[in-house]
Amino acid sequence: MTEINSVTTLTRDGDVDVITLNSPPVNALSAKVREGLFEGFKAAGASDSKAIVLICEGRTFIAGADISEFGAPGGAPTASLFDVQNMMENSPKPVIAAIHGTALGGGLEVALCAHYRVAVPSAKVGLPEVALGLLPGAGGTQRLPRIVGVEAALDMVTSGRHVPAKQALAMGLVDELAEEGKLKEGAIAFANRAVAENKPLVKVRDNNAKLEAAKGKPEIFADFRKANARKFRGFEAPEANIKCIEAAVNSASFEEGLAEERRLFGGLMMGQQSAAQRYYFFAERQANKIPDVPDDTPIRPIKKVGIIGAGTMGGGIAMNFANVGIQVVIVEQQQEPLDRGLATIRKNYERSRTAKPEETEKRVGLITGSLSMEEAFKDVDLVIEAVFERMDVKKDIFTRLDAICKPGAILATNTSGLNIDEIASVTKRPQDVIGLHFFSPANVMKLLEIVRADHTAKDVIATSMKLAKQIGKIAVLVGVTPGFVGNRILAQRQREANKLVLEGAMPWDVDRVLYDFGFPMGPFAMSDLAGLDIGWVKEKSKGETIRDVLCEMDRRGQKTGAGYYDYDENRNAKPSPVTEKIIHDFIAKSGRNPRKISDEEILERCIYPMINEGVKILEEGKAIRPSDIDVVWVNGYGWPVYRGGPMHYGDQIGADKVLAKMKEFQGSMGDDFKPAASLEKLVADGKKLADLKGA
Ligand code: CAA
Repeated sequence: MTEINSVTTLTRDGDVDVITLNSPPVNALSAKVREGLFEGFKAAGASDSKAIVLICEGRTFIAGADISEFGAPGGAPTASLFDVQNMMENSPKPVIAAIHGTALGGGLEVALCAHYRVAVPSAKVGLPEVALGLLPGAGGTQRLPRIVGVEAALDMVTSGRHVPAKQALAMGLVDELAEEGKLKEGAIAFANRAVAENKPLVKVRDNNAKLEAAKGKPEIFADFRKANARKFRGFEAPEANIKCIEAAVNSASFEEGLAEERRLFGGLMMGQQSAAQRYYFFAERQANKIPDVPDDTPIRPIKKVGIIGAGTMGGGIAMNFANVGIQVVIVEQQQEPLDRGLATIRKNYERSRTAKPEETEKRVGLITGSLSMEEAFKDVDLVIEAVFERMDVKKDIFTRLDAICKPGAILATNTSGLNIDEIASVTKRPQDVIGLHFFSPANVMKLLEIVRADHTAKDVIATSMKLAKQIGKIAVLVGVTPGFVGNRILAQRQREANKLVLEGAMPWDVDRVLYDFGFPMGPFAMSDLAGLDIGWVKEKSKGETIRDVLCEMDRRGQKTGAGYYDYDENRNAKPSPVTEKIIHDFIAKSGRNPRKISDEEILERCIYPMINEGVKILEEGKAIRPSDIDVVWVNGYGWPVYRGGPMHYGDQIGADKVLAKMKEFQGSMGDDFKPAASLEKLVADGKKLADLKGA
């Protein structure tokens, strides 16, 4: 064995040289790995072997460029990767890439320069750069369509999806599947066969047949853009990816296409969107790390989960667990709502395109119902309360749970903002009480706010974080504060949106500005969708707010055909003259004159108080770090990931500018805009929001 460098070895198996990379955690193409590849292929090229296999140790084949190197001093992230690729492609002896885990981004781009690819069935391949606001900048956009064709390439580069090995084999991306666990043997056998059979040294770059087929058919691209316009709205990277595939088809040579790819890659890399999306990649992973709850904290086994409430929330939560094979029992007070809840779960499964009928039966079979907490919850490992938001009801439930559940069971509430310490105080085991705040629809939304109360035990936190991952959620640990992190910040935006309307902006103006910013919809369209009468009580309504008046008129949102907006039979919204008149009446009653409000003011008034609230949350230790707040907002509230999240956006704007604007607004409109003390301090110290520390 020759040690090429600290992450690369060269070994010999008969006539085959084997280059092995071992750079945990994911064999990313760091400078060391690139050097290892370069020197490894040089040495193998000079040896008397007849073929070369490239394989990786650890959990995966190369998972891409080293993202942490991007934007770091030292520049050109893919500089010598091109040399490695050239050496592989031009090797006079067959080069075989042996793939397990994931060959992603630069990893697949390296593999595409091998003459052949062998993979185990569990492997996946993909070009996920689009998720980082980038495009495959190492020839991926030029080589991929030469193998899989233009349509499949467009799909892969703009979705970033990881293609399973079997499918990759059918697409021609992989040449052979090796037996699971026997990749090295399989790849070496393939290499020997390639030599014995004198297989051609396939250079993907020279395969132009699939590109020829797409020449003179600009409609392929036009149709693709049209079909995906909604999905790509606001993002720069999908369009740049499409342009690269277009360049592959229309360029006179491979090199010309490659040059265009490099040009477009550079543009994205320098831009704010990719910076935000790369930041977000690490933010999401960082959120898993709890400073005082180390990775080796013991976990409580969760085999059976109890849920109280068979409504939309309870049912959605139950599906998450059944999806991963965990048994669930749902308790309701009466048979009818219980039956309805269980029937809805079945319907949701049947409607979903992913679950096959037998899978649906398996999952539905894991969920049972009961009318008795005493009966159902004796042996559960975790119980989640998902009833309506009343402290007295929740306290009553937790008192009963304390008496029923076995020692060590985790007692969780799905409250979206009530004080969990108060709820825990009625039990004799506050260490077992935690908040698991799912977002609606709970079987779809990715975010889970895990709420740590004063006495929550560390192993309860560790168990909840791990469980969240198991059920496919992105978990963020937050502290007890009204509305927790997400809703507390949302309240700021909601308040300003309502005030703006009373000053002269129309709901559709506010919605348009926030939609153009990148949210899927604005607050008023959102209210119409959810129903304006959520939390509205007819008997108590005195026409004091615009919402009261709308509800009193039976304009309760989309479901009644009208709310802030008017809706046609296809639920298309249009600005409503009725709403406009109600608003003008309100303004007239207040004795003020409506004023013209600029889009800029709408945006700043909705967004800056959110950033300021994020700072306060950190000041109070209710979030661990600024990036956790961003993860909450991107996953729970539709904050556009290409703007990183409210805290990252604040830094993009500049904390000093946010502060100056807050002060200006405070001067003219009062203390809703009072800057957080730490915002003042960090600006005075010349620091960034990202420098703030939380809990
Ligand atoms: N660069 C640097 N670090 C990376 C990385 C990368 N490409 N991919 C993963 N990591 C790190 C993660 O930050 C994480 O670190 P910590 O343990 O310190 O938090 C660790 O590796 C493990 O990652 P995950 O927790 O995500 O592990 P997983 O098993 O759930 O997923 C994965 C593994 C599927 C490879 C996933 O990490 C992933 O999707 N990585 C990104 C892949 C990617 O986007 N590649 C393209 C890069 S851009 C490119 O290649 C440009 C080009 O054209 C040359």
